[in-house]
Parts: sequence; structure tokens; C-alpha cells
Amino acid sequence: ANPSIYHATATAPVNIAVIKYWGKASTKLNTPTNSSLSVTLSQDDLRTITTASCSASFESDALWLNGAPHDVSGARSQACFAELRALRKAKEDKDSSLPPLSTYKLHLISENNFPTAAGLASSAAGFAAFVRAIADLYELDESPTELSRIARQGSGSACRSLFGGYVAWEKGDREDGQDSLAVQVAPMSHWPTMRAAILVISDAKKGVSSTTGMQATVATSTLFPNRANVVVPARMEAMKKAIAEKDFETFAELTMADSNSFHAVCLDTIPPIFYMNDTSRAAVRVVEEINRSAGKKVAAYTFDAGPNAVIYYEESNQQIVLGTLKKATVDVTGWSDGYAHINAAVPEG
Ligand code: PMV
Repeated sequence: ANPSIYHATATAPVNIAVIKYWGKASTKLNTPTNSSLSVTLSQDDLRTITTASCSASFESDALWLNGAPHDVSGARSQACFAELRALRKAKEDKDSSLPPLSTYKLHLISENNFPTAAGLASSAAGFAAFVRAIADLYELDESPTELSRIARQGSGSACRSLFGGYVAWEKGDREDGQDSLAVQVAPMSHWPTMRAAILVISDAKKGVSSTTGMQATVATSTLFPNRANVVVPARMEAMKKAIAEKDFETFAELTMADSNSFHAVCLDTIPPIFYMNDTSRAAVRVVEEINRSAGKKVAAYTFDAGPNAVIYYEESNQQIVLGTLKKATVDVTGWSDGYAHINAAVPEG
């Protein structure tokens, strides 16, 4: 008879940081120089779905992403496989009736429900779904926070995608990285009116990878130590308070200031790294104008390692925020072409 094939399917949503992770304390452990905080988007809008299967008949570990084979020989994927297998092995050692899945090769089939070419960070959802699917296949009892320690080793930002709502990645103090993990600050139901619009400004692949960029910033930016050691720790506390109090104005101020601080240390890197472009800066000006005419902060922009803008706003201001953004897209070069569109992504509960 053919050997059995075991499988499990899991999804993980994209998260967009409002306090950015930028800088590695250890490249080996993938630990950060500073804590970060993100909002998890809706599964309906942006997510990865992954089916993990294993069998005595499989000859090697393999991953297919959107139908194409994807290399899993790198240290990041290997670290995730090894940690998950060790947890499964411990379970099997305790219960000899369990099939020896820890000894079988794994096949992973992964699909994004958004175009990978859209230039949106997909590694967060990708590694979170990877870890969740294998943990489910292995019937592991570990909590999302415990799994976040593993996902972190695949891609730093992935540790935050194991939760919905508002999520902090606490950098941790230990040498071995064991306390560098994600915790939920608040479920989305705490502040369910939060919305995110995604402005796809360019579908080009990012010029400088986040790993390369971070290492260059840590090595060369003189602004960076102040950001990592002074500015961000204070902002983390202020952001948690703003979320607890559902204080959108403070949330918006901190979000925009932190995005600008992150892009400033990129510019301060030698040689400088430019992720935002002229269209990104035009989006900043439109948001500033929306807030000026509203007489208070009703929208907040943030940019990751690429030119695309994510705009946070509250549902009650959807008309004014999206209406103004849509009107502006017609006039700004780069926004009126085929790829420039606005998605209203409802963060998940
Ligand atoms: O998870 P990585 O290694 O792709 O780094 C992500 C870095 C930013 O997206 C720029 C910031 C963040 O906190 O997500």
C-alpha cells in the first residue's frame, strides 16, 4: 500500500507596521534592534493560504508559491523546519502511538490572494502561514506567541501575522532570542472602526532587500542609534496607550512620525536607500492636506521598504479620506495608470 499523506491548511494575513522594525540585533537569530507594532489586515483582502503535507513517500522538503517552485534551502526556512520538527519530535517521544511525522519530508503549497508583483510585503503573511500550517499538521499545542518565536526566524515581520488586531513584537533582552516574540496588544474588536487603504504606487520589486538595507543602516547611519534606543522605545509606549484609548489623532501622529523616522535613517545610510518616490511624497502631501482641511488628524500614512502607501483612517471618515485620495490620483503621474488603485482593507478581528 502507498504510505499515508497527512495534511493541514492554514491562512495568515498581512500586517502593516505603525512602529517599524528596522535593524537586526542578531542576523543569525533574526532578532531586532527595536520593538515594533502593527495592525493586522483582513484575511479577505490580503492573505496567504498554505497547505502543508508530509509523507514517508516524499523525498525532499519543497515549497510551491503561487504555482512556482520556491527554494527552501536557505537558513531562514531551514530554521523554521528544524524548530517545528523538534516540537513534533518531543510530542512523539511522549506518545508512541503518534505517527512519526517529524521524520517525514514536508511539501508546502502556498497561494497569495493578492498579486505578489504588486510590491506589497508578502513575506510576513508567507512565513506566518508556513509556520501555522506545519504546526497544525503536527497538532502542536504551542500558543501563537510561542509559534511567533519560530516565524520570526523566517521573516521578522512574520511573527506579528500570527495574531489579528494590534500586535507588538517585543524585541527581548536575552542573548538566545527566546524572549523576542509577538503579543497581541488588543484584538480588532477593541477598535473595530480602523481601516487601511493601500495605494499601489509601483509594482516594481524593491531595489534593496530589507535584510541588506537594515544591515547597511545599522552599520553606517549616525541617526540610527537614537531611533532604536531612544525614539522607538518611547513611541512603543505612547502607541500602546493611543490604542488602549482609541485615540486616532495620537495614533496618526505616531504612525506618520515613525514612518518618516524609518525613511530618514534609510536616507542617512551610506550609500543612501530611497524607498519612497515622488508619487509617495505626493501621497504624503495629500494626507497632510486632508488633515489640514479637517482641522484634525483623520488619516495617517505609512510606507514600508517600497514606494506604496498604506493609509489608516477611521470608518466614519472613509468618504473624506478615500474621496480625496481618489480625486488626487487622477492628477498625479503614476496614480492614474492601470496599477494604481485603492483597496479598503478591513483589519481582522
Ligand atoms: O520582515 P522583513 O525582514 O521583511 O522586514 C520588514 C521591515 C518593514 O516592513 C520595513 C517594517 C516592518 O516592521 O514591517
